[in-house]
Amino acid sequence: MRIGTSISTKKLDEACVNEYKIPLIIMMENAVLSSVKHLDLNLYNKYVVVSGVGNNGGDGLGIARQLKAREKEVKVFIVGNMEKITLCSKTNLEILKAINIPYVIIDTKEESINNLKELEADINNSNVLVDCIFGTGLEREIKGIFKDVIDIINKNKNLVYSIDVPSGMNATTGEVLGVCIKADKTISFEFYKRGFLKYETKKYVGNVVVEHIGIPEYILKKYDDNEYITSMDFIKDNIRNKNKFSFKSDFGKVTIFAGSKGFTGAAFIASEAAIKSGSGLVTLVCDEHIQDIISSKLSEGMTANYKEEDRINKLIKTSNAIGFGCGMGDNETTLERLQYVLNNSDCPVVIDADGLNVLKNNISILKKFKNKIIVTPHLGEMSRLTGKSISYIKENRLDVAKEFAKENNIIVLLKGYETIITDGKVAYINPTGNSAMANGGMGDCLLGMITSFVGQGIELFEAAVCATYIHGYIGDILSKKMYTVNATHIIEKIPVIMKEFNI
Ligand code: APR
Repeated sequence: MRIGTSISTKKLDEACVNEYKIPLIIMMENAVLSSVKHLDLNLYNKYVVVSGVGNNGGDGLGIARQLKAREKEVKVFIVGNMEKITLCSKTNLEILKAINIPYVIIDTKEESINNLKELEADINNSNVLVDCIFGTGLEREIKGIFKDVIDIINKNKNLVYSIDVPSGMNATTGEVLGVCIKADKTISFEFYKRGFLKYETKKYVGNVVVEHIGIPEYILKKYDDNEYITSMDFIKDNIRNKNKFSFKSDFGKVTIFAGSKGFTGAAFIASEAAIKSGSGLVTLVCDEHIQDIISSKLSEGMTANYKEEDRINKLIKTSNAIGFGCGMGDNETTLERLQYVLNNSDCPVVIDADGLNVLKNNISILKKFKNKIIVTPHLGEMSRLTGKSISYIKENRLDVAKEFAKENNIIVLLKGYETIITDGKVAYINPTGNSAMANGGMGDCLLGMITSFVGQGIELFEAAVCATYIHGYIGDILSKKMYTVNATHIIEKIPVIMKEFNI
């Protein structure tokens, strides 16, 4: 699914109309028909549509017509200066008049006060309110009559479905321009709006669905911003197939550097996740006493300890991917080990946890080495790496992640609700995962999965996107029946779910 801004939406609309000769009224009708599908017609009969005078309002007028065509009771309120009504909205208004759908105009004139009362009464007397006041064309603070209307809608307990964007939200930034409709569902067109990514906007957008409005794929491709929500198809396209002639060497040899005293679990989880994700061979490198504890647990994995220098050197030289950092300790030794690994190997390296902590004042060292690198920080680690505050990163997650990836020529996987994966140019937002997974070991599991996928020959970026999606997808399935989902539960399910994706 594509992510877009008000600007990309406008450019797309203009290209469709001017270059590809698709009349706006056709796209509007497609938007109308796509929206009607999501208005729960099987559940409700009484609808109020509130339209503005822009094209978002035109969508609303068309929706009212289609609701009437489906024998629903519908009443329309039009808010704004009728002199400014757009051409397509006017066309839809003419039809509305001709087929006798009741409508009321709420403008800045005095008698509008009564119309506000009528709006409130009609909302009370209906099941669903369809919000089409402003879409991507919202451009300034909402005041006066518009604010009054939005306040009335928000005060009421009816279901509210917003079309394209909840009125009051800047679709590009997610900023609320004074006041904003609190939708239960937002039916957006072609692009998942970039503003919806902000955590603060979730209480306004409700459930978001993105619908096509008949714009051909090759046009969409030209006007997208290289920002996407990961889809299941992406995973199916990128997971490696096992054909009957495959050997273990075809599925990669990976080395995981993890664990220290008190952090044996991290070492186990990262290695076991790599094994269960399909790696041909997995070796855990850790301290000798950790090795003693883990060897018996890690039935299908091998272990090495730091005293075995020749073995480690050979391992990292022959690995297809290396995972580094989980539970290693934020200290000088970890930094030295990271530099050693990067200096003596040329395969991709996935760095997490203490591997990131030791880089906090040394991020520039990554540029010295030829390895391709994925870093997987959570908000706190990202804050330490960039020197930016957690609240700033939270507010600007996508831009911060993209900038950091670009600056350091690495892939950044910024963990959290809707994890971001970016190489600085392209970004994928992960839609899977849930709060039942918010517990120790989850990041170690993800590192093991990514390292395994990279080792299997999936391109770095794609490997990070796939691992994140599958990790969260398993968590989502398990959380339906489990109050808390732990890394070991995820690990157990990896082979089963990967088989589902790999058919
Ligand atoms: N207060 C009052 N009026 C405003 C404000 C504001 N804060 N901001 C914008 N407007 C007015 C504009 O002057 C214009 O008349 O709202 C109208 C634009 O509203 P939209 O319908 O959001 O913009 P438009 O570009 O016409 O349509 C875009 O059309 O393709 C559909 O729903 C889709 O969101 C998309 C919409």
